[in-house]
Amino acid sequence: MTDRLKTIANMITVGSSVADIGADHGFLSINLIENGISSKVIIGEVNEGPYQKSLYNVQNSKLANKIDIRKGDGLQILKPLEVETVVIAGMGGDTIVEILNYDIEKSKSYNEFIFQPMTKANVLRQFLAYKGWIIIDEKIIRETDVFYTIIKVKPENIPYTLNDLELQIGPLILKADTQLKKEYIELFKIKYKKVYDNLHNSNRQDRELLINEYRQKFLILEAILNGSND
Ligand SMILES: C[S@@+](CC[C@H](N)C(=O)[O-])C[C@H]1O[C@@H](n2cnc3c(N)ncnc32)[C@H](O)[C@@H]1O
Repeated sequence: MTDRLKTIANMITVGSSVADIGADHGFLSINLIENGISSKVIIGEVNEGPYQKSLYNVQNSKLANKIDIRKGDGLQILKPLEVETVVIAGMGGDTIVEILNYDIEKSKSYNEFIFQPMTKANVLRQFLAYKGWIIIDEKIIRETDVFYTIIKVKPENIPYTLNDLELQIGPLILKADTQLKKEYIELFKIKYKKVYDNLHNSNRQDRELLINEYRQKFLILEAILNGSND
């Protein structure tokens, strides 16, 4: 299993029943049973190719009696309260939001979610803040020079706000004290500096506003890296 999938597995509450939505190869589900993290896993896959792939891998693992494989879209393959933990990994943040929003009352019936958005993590975090779902853990990992963020969430009903940096980078990642976080933040600094530089050659009316906004973001990240943002 890749480090990304191992990190997801380690963030799941041990002993909980799990649904792995968009499981593709099914390796996470197989690992959860093999390592005693869960004794009941349901796989959900909407596409025929990945569905067949997970069927094949689960059959080969001899765990077919412990992993229930269902074909269908998002959480529609589950009944309310059917599992405690739902994993949705390897999809865009906007797709994850669509899946949750399809039947928000049903979505709220599960105890915890582990999300690993490939893109648009800010869209997902905005949704979580708006709905009042609490981010209880956030991790970043790097695999072959690509950073992945993994977000553990508990559905609640206490809306909160996140600023733009928190939406983009992650509120708990910003507070973490790890070398990887520093390297992750360096990437955003480079990105913001590039936008800042390009804005100087732009004719847009809100140019000055944006220049100031990106300068601020850059300076905040620099202060975080220097440990002087408190
Ligand atoms: C890139 S793979 C990620 C596989 C695995 N979760 C992982 O993280 O390694 C995304 C998978 O999600 C599936 N998928 C996309 N939208 C879905 C949906 N609405 N419901 C269920 N599966 C979906 C795709 O068919 C694909 O197999």
